[in-house]
Formats: sequence, structure tokens, C-alpha cells
Amino acid sequence: RRACLIDTDPGTDDAVALWLALASPELDLRLVTVAGGNVGLEQTLPNARAILGLARSGLPVVAGADRPLLGAFTAETRVHGADGLGGVVLPEGPPATPGVAADAIRDLLRREERVTLIGIGPATNLALALATEPALVARVEEIVLMTGAWAEGNITPSAEFNAWSDPEALALLLGCGRPVTLATLELTAQALVTPARIAALRGRGGGACLDAAARIMEGVPPSRRFAHRGHPLHDPCAIAWLIDPGLFTHRDVHVHVECAGITRGRTVVDRWERSGQAPNARLLETLDADGFFALLGERLAALP
Ligand code: BDR
Ligand code: CA
Repeated sequence: RRACLIDTDPGTDDAVALWLALASPELDLRLVTVAGGNVGLEQTLPNARAILGLARSGLPVVAGADRPLLGAFTAETRVHGADGLGGVVLPEGPPATPGVAADAIRDLLRREERVTLIGIGPATNLALALATEPALVARVEEIVLMTGAWAEGNITPSAEFNAWSDPEALALLLGCGRPVTLATLELTAQALVTPARIAALRGRGGGACLDAAARIMEGVPPSRRFAHRGHPLHDPCAIAWLIDPGLFTHRDVHVHVECAGITRGRTVVDRWERSGQAPNARLLETLDADGFFALLGERLAALP
């Protein structure tokens, strides 16, 4: 079992990703750190506490950055609603663990030989942790991120939301020298939540977490980009990669992050080896969507 932490900004799909991770014995989840992202930190933190509380996880939840390394904070309420969970109200969770996310991340790296860092929000907390004690970078087993896009963005024409929220932080992670795996928008577009898939999920029975996951997915507006057939379930793709890599195909690529101007947050992904630069990331390219949703249903049904 791999020791890991999740850095998150819940977030409708973050909630489903956290529940999938908690339900999966392949992952030895030790810590959840929270940043502002989909909505402000004052909302993502109670959301994270409630999500973990519903699963009776007992895991430490630590608050982190309320803004990117540089520049101003911007929320994404069009997808996630003003409360970040699309209006689905969960019982209040246990209190957050005192302290700061970057410190908690470094403490875990000091305690463990190898830790996998999973990032499903803006990369600020992870970047702060690694930048402030570079000797600990060697203890990072790998970094798995839902971020970026090799074609179009979703928050600007060029940029995916997490990459755009803190491109400097993402660039720091890509340059840290440890293996980085990216679930980009092209990958997560294959994990399309449709009414039929929600019905199949509900058909598994399950408890409060599965019911809340279904309600949260029902609350996300279907996307114009997918002809209103459904919406992509981004963040759980990063978790599923660590549980069952056989569901994916991938290739090694060089990725550069644009940090200035109209293309700020754009990930320039060299899929066809045009840059002459050595790969610095593994790009997840295809997903067995039926296998993914079967895994999700099986695991969520086992939660409280
Ligand atoms: C990413 O941005 C957020 O809106 C989602 O939770 C996901 O992490 C998709 O662009
Ligand atoms: Ca997220």
C-alpha cells in the first residue's frame, strides 16, 4: 500500500475523488490538505471536513493556501455552485487539525520514506511544501495531478482551471525532478457522468456517501462542450490511476506551463516530440470509462 496525501479544493468532483480514495485499500491515505480553488478556502475547508466526516475517516484535514503563490484568487462557482458542492448540504464534519498545509505535508514526508502526492486543486500547497525544504523532495514517490490540457482549456480558451489557478506552483512541481503524472481535460472528458451512469451508481445501494455522491453529480449542470449529455468527472480520474492503472494508456511528454499573458495557465504538452526537450511528465491519454465507473460504483458502495 502506498502512503499518500490528497491536496484538494472541494469541489463536487473533489468530493467523489476523496470518497473513492477513502474506499480503496490500495491507497494508504494519511493526510488531506485544502486550498481555496473551486470556491474560497472558508468554504472548501468545511466541505473537506464534511466529506471526510461522512465517510467516518478520522484523517487529519489541514487548511492551506487561500490564494495562489502570485496574483489574486478567483473561484469557479459556475460548475460547483456558491458552496462548492452544488447545493448538496452534508452534516458538519469534525474540526480541522490545527496547523498549515505545507507544514503538515513536510511533516508527513519527514515521517515516511516514500509518499505519493495527489493534487486535485490548484498546486499551491504542494509547491510551498517542496520549495521550502528541498531535501524532502527525494522522499516524494511520485506526484499525480488532475491539471492541464493539451488542447483547449475550460476556464480560458487556453487554460484548465487548476493550472490557471496557480501556474507558477504547477511549474515548480513539474521541475522538481520526481515523476509527475497528469490527468488532463482530454483524459477526464472520457469520464462523462450521464443520467444512465448515475442511475447505475444508485442501483448499487450503498450508504450516505454513495447517496451524497449521486446527488452531487446530479447537481452539476451538463456541459455545452458535451452537447449536454453530461459532465466530466475530473478529479476521481487521478485517484483511479493509482488504484487500477490498467484502465489507462499513457505516454511520456515534456510539459511547459505558460505563466504570462492571455495564455497564462496553458500547459504546452509536447505529444509529438517537437520541443527537443526531455519528458518531464507522464500524460494519461485514454480511459476505459465503463471500467472506471464500475470501479467507482463498487468502491463507493462499500462506504458508510
Ligand atoms: C478541475 O477544476 C475544478 O473545477 C475541478 O474540481 C477539477 O479539479 C477541472 O478543471
Ligand atoms: Ca478539484
